[in-house]
Amino acid sequence: MDLLVKNARVVTSSESFESSIGVEGGKIASVSPILSPSGARVYDAEGKVVIPGGIDAHTHMELPVTGTTSADDFYSGTVAAACGGITTIVDFVDTKRGQSLLGALADYRRRADSKVAVDYGLHMMLKGQNLPEIDRIPEIVQKGVSSFKVYTAYKARGLMLEDADIARVMEKVKGAGGLVAVHAESERIIQRLIEENLAAGRTGARFHALSRPAEAEAEAISRVAELARRASASIYIVHLSSRAGRAEVEKARREGTRIFAETCPHYLILTDDVYGREDGRNYVMSPSLKKAGDRAALWEGLRPDGVIETVGSDHCPFPSAEKDWGEGDFTKIPNGVPGTEAIIPLLYSEGVRKGRISMFDLARVTSGSPAMRFGLAPSKGSLSVGSDADFVIIDPRKQVRMTADVMHSKIDYSIYDHIKTEGYPVLTVSRGEVVMEDGEFVGHRGKGRFIPRRGDPRSKVT
Ligand code: URP
Ligand code: ZN
Repeated sequence: MDLLVKNARVVTSSESFESSIGVEGGKIASVSPILSPSGARVYDAEGKVVIPGGIDAHTHMELPVTGTTSADDFYSGTVAAACGGITTIVDFVDTKRGQSLLGALADYRRRADSKVAVDYGLHMMLKGQNLPEIDRIPEIVQKGVSSFKVYTAYKARGLMLEDADIARVMEKVKGAGGLVAVHAESERIIQRLIEENLAAGRTGARFHALSRPAEAEAEAISRVAELARRASASIYIVHLSSRAGRAEVEKARREGTRIFAETCPHYLILTDDVYGREDGRNYVMSPSLKKAGDRAALWEGLRPDGVIETVGSDHCPFPSAEKDWGEGDFTKIPNGVPGTEAIIPLLYSEGVRKGRISMFDLARVTSGSPAMRFGLAPSKGSLSVGSDADFVIIDPRKQVRMTADVMHSKIDYSIYDHIKTEGYPVLTVSRGEVVMEDGEFVGHRGKGRFIPRRGDPRSKVT
């Protein structure tokens, strides 16, 4: 045995029990109240909680965005992930101009394989330039990339697909047993408001949010849900940010659509008040932050009877000097915020400790559900004998103020520096290796592996 965690309170999506956990060869070797160390390193988890390693199914490491690249590469981003208890990320392959889908996939694999400190999978982004290649989707699924992201917005960046093209993608992805992830915001509503605001000289960060109201999200969800229902395809709404959006997901579910949703830590913690601050630009992401009522609706949606089954970070940070490019024109602010390191600390401290969600919910939305939805189970997302030894130990007594100097992302500010947590991850184990201990990264560059993901057999054409 390599590692023995004793006196653990183990919590998964469905169970909570006192046990010891034995780790050997990167796998969970035994889960039993009495285990003998037999040469293993022993970690005493008395008074602490052990949950399956977090799966952050929404990151953008080293992503080119409007004249720059997101600040974390696959190394620094996965160091941050490990320090927050995340043991698997799923990032998005973005094709460069002229690059084929398979060429872009190979490029991402080459860049990520040598850097990742925890395991990773990949989704494929499908934008306008990729449409001539959608017949390649089954081949890409065969390579372990079984989810495809489309955008209903960002026309100027070449990301937006028309509804008819989204419908074609849904047919192809369904046929290959995959899942369509959707960035759902209405280009029509947003563009009109952006033009009105800029023409009237309303250029500050506040107008980023005022140009992206909740109705823009709700309208796009309603539209793509209808396309999915007609195609009998499975869809996954990324970064749900509003009560109105949640209501559209619920409505589509009632109508029998196979629709799933994710939210992000920033929508659960922050509101659009921050855009009025002097550093409001640092909080610019899309969709934008909404109101306190939206935030409450998202917490409710995470409960077992809710429609939000996962929390992903949409980790895509930029330094404040680059956020400043939007001074005088909010559309020039690079969109995106940090988050992968914050998911588990915030969901534990602001969610579980404040009674908004249970410990089971925490384990489910950060690990069990993303493992199942993205074809990573049973090796990920649980703590059973034979599964990967991916887990995080939380000390409920550890208080951490989440300032820039304690977070590991390569940026100069923290959007959560007003938060002092009640409880924090103190040990992260990734395939049997301790990668974070007491806030310090102790893992290795390039130690993570690419995890090929299966498609969803229930969405396959029979
Ligand atoms: O604001 C967001 N969601 N940024 C992520 C990267 C992108 O441009 O989609
Ligand atoms: Zn994203």
